[in-house]
Amino acid sequence: MNARIGVGIAGWGVAGRLMADAVSLDPRFELVGVADRDAAARERAARDTTAAVVRDVEELAALPAVGAVYLATPTRHHLEGVIVVARAGKHIVCEKPLAADVETAQQAVDATRAAGVVLIVGATHALDAPVRALRRLVTEATLGQLLSVESSCHTDWHKRRRTPEDLDLSSGNGLLLRQGAHQFDMLRLICGGDARSVAGSLFGPGDPGHELGFSAQIIFGGGTSASAYYSGNGGFDSRLSSWGVGETGTVDISPSWPLTDHFVLPGSGAPPNPAPMFGRTVATFERGGAQTTPRGLLVLDADGVSEIDVTAEPSGWAAVLDQLDRALTGEPSIAYSGEWGVATLELCLAVRRSAVTGGPVVLRHQVGLPASSPQETR
Ligand SMILES: NC(=O)c1ccc[n+]([C@@H]2O[C@H](COP(=O)([O-])OP(=O)(O)OC[C@H]3O[C@@H](n4cnc5c(N)ncnc54)[C@H](O)[C@@H]3O)[C@@H](O)[C@H]2O)c1
Repeated sequence: MNARIGVGIAGWGVAGRLMADAVSLDPRFELVGVADRDAAARERAARDTTAAVVRDVEELAALPAVGAVYLATPTRHHLEGVIVVARAGKHIVCEKPLAADVETAQQAVDATRAAGVVLIVGATHALDAPVRALRRLVTEATLGQLLSVESSCHTDWHKRRRTPEDLDLSSGNGLLLRQGAHQFDMLRLICGGDARSVAGSLFGPGDPGHELGFSAQIIFGGGTSASAYYSGNGGFDSRLSSWGVGETGTVDISPSWPLTDHFVLPGSGAPPNPAPMFGRTVATFERGGAQTTPRGLLVLDADGVSEIDVTAEPSGWAAVLDQLDRALTGEPSIAYSGEWGVATLELCLAVRRSAVTGGPVVLRHQVGLPASSPQETR
């Protein structure tokens, strides 16, 4: 077996620790360094890992054992992180969103291009196994052409304890950027990436950053239409209609009567190790339809209902590591590039613009998936 790739994690917070879990389960990678500006976070990292623990991303990137850096610092620090890691000649996985605006995100892409290093933006739920399976159904065209996709997600995102930074639009936060980055990435992956225009609306009290939810209608090249709806205001919970499985890929909701009379009992249809569920995603094809499930896909056509089981395939952070390995070994991948991250960011921001102007916004930074082979989404 080849030597393992040394991973450095910048930011020992929520995302950083989730990536550390994924690295610990993947024999191709090894956690060799952690950087965090906060002394208490460094103490936690020293306690939780055997990796070298440093203060700054620059020190982390300079560690000889580090081959790739996962940037899980808050979004406003992504560009500075990308620049120092790229200058050190190390590969980068940067958390979403890449930046707060397209120009800054483009600078990050340019820095990695100039240095000749890989830049992957994620983890997003587009990399979850059921979503990739849906993309394969599109490229294999077993149900004919994809006509439309509908994605809806109800959570309590806005009701959870939030820091002022979590809601600060100028630093790349707020519900639309944080959650839209997942939802629009999923829709772009399923529909082929090349979004042409979007009309969107936001709901909430109108204070900047206090977006409680959004909806968007996206038109893709080739005419496929996609609709996204997200409410982070609590109330209905999408896990009620996704077998109790939510974004973390665990069965984690237990409704009481009368909800139990109206929804499938949590866990009753979920497999062991269910795939994460970002709400409900349903696709309409010329000759049938498909819905994502914690096991993979339910496919409905003239022959009845069948299931595609993808529980053996990675999701979330494990799937990001898979993409990184593919990028480093030259295997076909979904091309989860920096340019892809810029395009998803553009789509999120266009929804905000459309909500203000009341009209559709034409998109200019979109990238399509490369010549589609089902192999790329395995
Ligand atoms: N993919 C996902 O599902 C997912 C989930 C959570 C967060 N995120 C993304 O991950 C990023 C981090 O979010 P989080 O919730 O983990 O944040 P967090 O606040 O939990 O952790 C961030 C950590 O980074 C450290 N830090 C801040 N600036 C730094 C710097 N310049 N150098 C080194 N360390 C620094 C902080 O001290 C903190 O420990 C955000 O971009 C967010 O959008 C993605």
